[in-house]
Amino acid sequence: MKTLKILVLNGPNLNLLGTREPDVYGTETLETIEADLRACATELGAVELEFFQSNAESDLITRIGATRGSYDGILINPAAFTHTSLAVCDALKAVSDVVSAVEVHLSNTHKREEIRHTSLTAAGCVGQIMGFKGQSYILGLQALVKYLR
Ligand code: DQA
Repeated sequence: MKTLKILVLNGPNLNLLGTREPDVYGTETLETIEADLRACATELGAVELEFFQSNAESDLITRIGATRGSYDGILINPAAFTHTSLAVCDALKAVSDVVSAVEVHLSNTHKREEIRHTSLTAAGCVGQIMGFKGQSYILGLQALVKYLR
């Protein structure tokens, strides 16, 4: 079985998980979520993960653009850029012929303020999973790996 290389990208303020609005996002830290993803990757077998979080849109765009040739998939929580960034969507689309992306959200954005009901980034992704707090990432990784295999 070919080893799948997956980049896990997290956008702004997700470094604050654990203490950030725990009623909305849960109490798990990003480090815990990443550890759970590593365990899930081991269970799935032949899945290699790399993690990157940034509060800067340009950093995320640069990392997405650099995935061509080195990665098979992207698991992304674009955070607030979900609702604002055509540029992140364009970056995902620019590599989508060789790199498949799955978008995840901790909260169910459709149950929140209207501005969060629209995802500009989802059009650059194969699919979207939301509303299961930290578990959204696990479900997203499983879906992405199944899609790629
Ligand atoms: C989020 C939802 C976004 O609306 C918000 O800006 C975030 C987190 C989520 O995971 O639920 O930062 O992406």
